[in-house]
Amino acid sequence: MAESILIEANTKSEKYKQLIPQLQSLCISESNLIANLANVSAALKSTFHFFWVGFYLVENESLVLGPFQGPIACTRIAFGKGVCGTAWKNEKAILVMNVDEFPGHIACSSESKSEIVIPIIKNNAVVAVLDVDSDEIGHFDQDDMNYLTELCTWLGQSCF
Ligand code: SME
Repeated sequence: MAESILIEANTKSEKYKQLIPQLQSLCISESNLIANLANVSAALKSTFHFFWVGFYLVENESLVLGPFQGPIACTRIAFGKGVCGTAWKNEKAILVMNVDEFPGHIACSSESKSEIVIPIIKNNAVVAVLDVDSDEIGHFDQDDMNYLTELCTWLGQSCF
């Protein structure tokens, strides 16, 4: 198993390009889902210094808090509620530039200002979402969307 993640790039895109293959080789050598999601959230947090990064796992009609890095967060989110529940319901990623402008946004922390949520799909069903929060308005862009979607597509097919 890799002992550490090595990121030498300066730009965000280059960091994602270096990080994703290292996460894939890290996860492929471990069969436990929670261990893998814990390492993915830690690696994303330490590479990009996001305010909060973590997973919510589908359990019946709710999303339940899974491995994450950052301040404590809401433990359950109902189907269709908040950004996470909406991404689950729509089976589609959501980029929120300003959380105050997203109707029904669930504020686990008043410090979170922008957010991106990517559904993780296995066998055509959402099994989890990746939620990343920033303490800056408009922090995320299409590059985050594309690379995090690539990572979540792989996680759904290979880790769940
Ligand atoms: N803001 C999310 C809730 C989860 S926390 O941000 C960690 C939402 O509206 O679904």
